[in-house]
Formats: sequence, structure tokens, C-alpha cells
Amino acid sequence: MTIAESPVWRRVAETAGPVSIATLFATDPDRAERYTFTAGDLTVDFSKHWITKPTVDALVALAEAAGLRSAIDAMFSGARINTTEDRPVLHTALRRPADAPLLLDGHDVVADVHAVLDAMSAFAERVRSGDWLGHTGRPIRTIVNIGIGGSDLGPAMAYRALRPYAAEHLDVRFVSNVDPNHLLAALDGIDPETTLFTIASKTFTTIETISNAKVARRWLVDALGSDDATAKHFVAISTNAAKVAEFGIDTANMFGFWDWVGGRYSVDSAIGLSLMIAIGPDHFRAMLDGFHTIDEHFRTTPFATNVPVLAGLIGVLYRNFHSLPTHAVLPYAQRLDRFPAYLQQLDMESNGKRVTLDGTPVDYDTGPIVWGEPGTNGQHAFYQLIHQGTTVIPADLIGFLESPDGTDPAVVDLHDLLMANLFAQAEALAFGKSADQVRADGAAEALVPHRTFPGNRPTSVILADRLTPSVLGQLIALYEHRTFTQGVIWGVNSFDQWGVELGKVLATAIGAELTATDEPELLHDASTNALIRRYRAFHQR
Ligand code: F6P
Repeated sequence: MTIAESPVWRRVAETAGPVSIATLFATDPDRAERYTFTAGDLTVDFSKHWITKPTVDALVALAEAAGLRSAIDAMFSGARINTTEDRPVLHTALRRPADAPLLLDGHDVVADVHAVLDAMSAFAERVRSGDWLGHTGRPIRTIVNIGIGGSDLGPAMAYRALRPYAAEHLDVRFVSNVDPNHLLAALDGIDPETTLFTIASKTFTTIETISNAKVARRWLVDALGSDDATAKHFVAISTNAAKVAEFGIDTANMFGFWDWVGGRYSVDSAIGLSLMIAIGPDHFRAMLDGFHTIDEHFRTTPFATNVPVLAGLIGVLYRNFHSLPTHAVLPYAQRLDRFPAYLQQLDMESNGKRVTLDGTPVDYDTGPIVWGEPGTNGQHAFYQLIHQGTTVIPADLIGFLESPDGTDPAVVDLHDLLMANLFAQAEALAFGKSADQVRADGAAEALVPHRTFPGNRPTSVILADRLTPSVLGQLIALYEHRTFTQGVIWGVNSFDQWGVELGKVLATAIGAELTATDEPELLHDASTNALIRRYRAFHQR
């Protein structure tokens, strides 16, 4: 029996009939309070969702029937829940306090975590203070992180989010794409003598990262006139010491992590080194404490008041019981402009799966399409469809009570306007504007249908006082555990990513065919063969 055939699934279906958010509010004066929860410094208002007490009760029962409690315990204790790769999943160990050991096969991984954190901290302080000198004796001013996917999105997103905490004398740039434009743009105008490259790759085999790192090394060595320059300008972050050494980086300048940290769950590992150099070890550790706060909330709070669990269950409600295909993340914070992209990898690489843990094809939908842009920009672009389109798009609106950009009156004015928009959008989406209201405004009858807002569009509003390092850690952990909750309900492995492999293999083969000096025998489909021939012809190969 699949989960979709279970009695509890039917129970959710029976309670999940069409609801009107407006009616729910009209008939329950305490609704806003009843469905607003706190986790750490986060306040999350779920009241504008298609939920009633029977629905939430049924969803909680679904989580219990799916084994969420034992799955949480298994993850936190280091069981090998990533079964297709035969690995534990222990990103939560990355943020455990030093005095909270965790034994994996008899070995305390928390001690390892803190040893690396201490090494990162010492190195970050040396770079920040100017004690770490480049090949020509000058201190570092620019850090270029080269990595992709989880080895880029986390630190790149967090650096933008936490820029007010970053050292002003340091500039941090991120290169991920193998499009030469990305590396060239990052190198533009920077001084090789004062540049440090952090090469971030869990496997140290990712073609984009290694290719970009090789070009960066050539740029540095050509500029500084010696291969020896690499030692002072390149550090590695990886689980693969052999490949780091093969690349030519001294493993004394390598910061390690472990195969039980998934790439998309690695911003709080050594992968965050560039971020730590920017914001300093204390702020980085405050971010880890924020993660840990939500880990503890997730691990210990009953499901009915557990924010990541509820967020996950509400997502399941929309995906499986209302067939809604997407989920929007709309930060009302420009500093979180890369947060939706970060969450795309976290969620879509985790739960974009079509078979359950035992390999059986699912008979229900799994992960939604996650997307978003900061408000208010999105309001002047795609919100039209969210308000009046034919697809309902559940959305998370994220905001902060105080601007991270200070208390100057002009800043406060702009921030007031920003937050007014967040609250207004959540209201407009939920309650809309009826035809009668439009008429009462004096609209011409022909325009009434065009100017009517159906409302009943669900949102979560997520608030915190400020976007601090701790709050950022809390936000990320909230989404990590939301993703995990959904993966458990759907019975998929949220920690592998076999779906990225085929493209990598084909790209390697086609790369050789694009550059071969002799005409290669092309054995692809007719379309792919023609595209390859066209590229070769353009380059007269
Ligand atoms: O292509 C998918 C992926 O394996 C991601 O899961 C990962 O974050 C990214 O590539 C980068 O991998 P690595 O850190 O090994 O270079």
C-alpha cells in the first residue's frame, strides 16, 4: 500500500475540500492567533492558508503515519538514511555545540566539526587581519570563491544577506558558471597580488569548478610569474584530499568536511569559508547557533506546533490534495535576493524524485517547482498572475521588522513602505476584491470582471526582527526541515541527486566531439548531431 492509498491520506482528502480564507476568518476571530507560531526568532503566520482544525489534525496524522518522528530521530542520530549512497545525513551535526558529542560508528563527529571550525576561524582571522600574506608579501583584499551548486549558492546567498556584517576592506566574489563571462567578470579589476581563491567542491571533480579553478590559477601564475604563488593564493574546501593534492593545492591549505554533508546542506560546513572570512568567525558561529535553534525546535516540538513540520505539511496539502504545481518564495528583503535560488536547489534537488526509497514509482506528485524574486520587484512583474491567473500559487512572504540598512529616517521610510507592501500583498491575495466592491468604487460595468480579485490565494508570512546571522541560520534550517518533512511523507530519498548525472556524462562526451580535430562519428539523435555539427562548422572544425 502506498501512502496515497492509506486511510490517513483519504482522511486528509476528506478534510481538504474547497475553503474560503475570508469565511474562515469571518467565522473564527482567533484564527490569526491560532495559526501563528514561533520558532526561535521566527514568527510564522499560517492563518491565510486553506487549513482548518480537521485538516491540520489529518495532516499531523499523515506525518505520524509516514514515520516522521522516527525519521527525524534517525537523521539526527546518524542513521544511514541516504540509502542510495549508503550515507548518514548529518548536516545537523555541523551546528551542534562543542559540548554535545555525537558518536558515529563510535567516533565523535562533533569534535571533528569543531576542529575544522577552529582551523577555519584561525585562517579567517589571519586573512581578515592582514596577517596572511600573498606571494609578494601583500595582504588579501579580494576573495574569489569558485564552486557550483551547494558549493556556491549557500555562501553566495548568505554573503549578500549578511553584507552589513562583512569586513569593509574585503571584497568577496563568487564564480560558479562555466560560462567564461562569470570568471572574467569576477577577475575584472582585481589585483592578483591581493586575491585569494577558495576552491569549494565536495568531490573536487566537478567539471565547472575544476575548469574555472585551472583558468584562475593560470591567471594568477602568469601575473605573479611563479607556480609557487599558488600556495599563498589558493585554498581548497573539499572531502577529497587526493584530488585537491592532484590539482596542486597543498592539503595543509585544505578545509575538510564529510560525505554525510550533502552539497545543498553544506553552507554551514567549511563550504562557508568565504562567508566566514567576510563576516568573521563570531558571526559565522552565531549563524550556526541559529541553525541549531531550529534543529532543536524541529527535533523536540510536537508536530501540531512544529513550524518546519507544519510548513511541510501545508505544502503537501497543496501539492497532493489541490494539485498545485509551484511554490513561490518572495522575500521582502533585497538582501535575500538569492534566497529563492538557494531554496530551488535545496528543495528541488532534494524532492524532485519519482521513485520511493525502495525504487517503486510514486503514484502521487512530489516536489513542487520552487521559484521567486524579492518583493516589491515581483509585484511589478509576475504578481498579476498570482492575483488573477488561473493557477493558484502558494507563497511565502518573508520580512524583517527593522531594515538591515540602519535607522536613518530615509531608510526607515523606505523600509516602512516595503513592509506595507508585504502586509498588503498577503491581505490582497487572501481576501481579494469582490465585484460588488469594484462596482462600489464606480468602475464601468464592462471593467468589473477585469478589476475583480478572486482572493483565496494562500500565503505564509514569515517575520523576524532583523536579518542577523542567527536569523539567517534559522531561516535556512526552517526550509531544510520543511524539505525533509515533505521527503518523508513522499517516501523519497531527499539526499541523493542521480538526476543530475546523465547531463554531466553527455556533456563530457559532447565536449570531446565539439573540439575533436578529426570529424567525430556522431551517434546522438538527429537533432543533437545537427547542433554539434553547426557548432563545429562555425568554428571551422
Ligand atoms: O550537480 C549536482 C551537484 O552534485 C550538487 O548536488 C552539488 O552541490 C554540486 O553538484 C557541486 O558539487 P561539488 O561540491 O562536488 O563540486
